[in-house]
Amino acid sequence: MTVTTRKINFSLNGEPVAADIGNHQNVVELLNKFDLCGARESCGQGLCGCCTVLVDGVAVSGCLQLAAMVDGKNVCTVEGLDQSGQLDPIQQAFIESGAFQCGFCTPGFVLMTKQLLDRHPDPDDEQIRSFLSGNLCRCAAYPEILKAVHLASQRRKSAVAA
Ligand code: FES
Ligand code: FES
Repeated sequence: MTVTTRKINFSLNGEPVAADIGNHQNVVELLNKFDLCGARESCGQGLCGCCTVLVDGVAVSGCLQLAAMVDGKNVCTVEGLDQSGQLDPIQQAFIESGAFQCGFCTPGFVLMTKQLLDRHPDPDDEQIRSFLSGNLCRCAAYPEILKAVHLASQRRKSAVAA
C-alpha cells in the first residue's frame, strides 16, 4: 500500500512549526508527533470530546479532523494555555473545584470552557450544560465541572476589572 504524505506548516500554541504527515492522519496523530498528548483519542467518532483542540479559536474534534486541514492555521492545545508557567484561570479553577477524577476528559473540558467563556463571559448553568454537552466525563464529575466554569468566569471577570 502506498501512503501519500505531505508537509504542512502551522502555528502550534503560538510557535510556527512544520510536520510531514500522512494524508490519512488526524490531528491527534499530528500532535503526538510533537509529544503533546493532552488531546486524547477515546471514542474516535466525534462523540466524547476527549480529543478537543482549538483551531483558529474554534473547538474541533481532533479524532475527526484531518491533520492536513490545519495547514496554515493556529492550533491551540491544553499544553498551550499557561502563561509563562502560570496556569490559565480555567485550569486553576478545575483544580480548585476538584472537577476531575481520572483527568482523561479534562483537557477537552478546559478547552471547551475557554471557547464558552470567550463567547459568553458570564454563562448561566443552562448555557454551560448546553455548551459542554458534547464532552463526556466517565467519572461523572459534572457538578464540580459546573462549579469550575463559574469560578473561572469570576476569575476572568476580576482580571479584566483589575
Ligand atoms: S475521541 Fe474524538 S470525540 Fe471522542
Ligand atoms: S475525570 Fe475521568 S473521565 Fe472525566
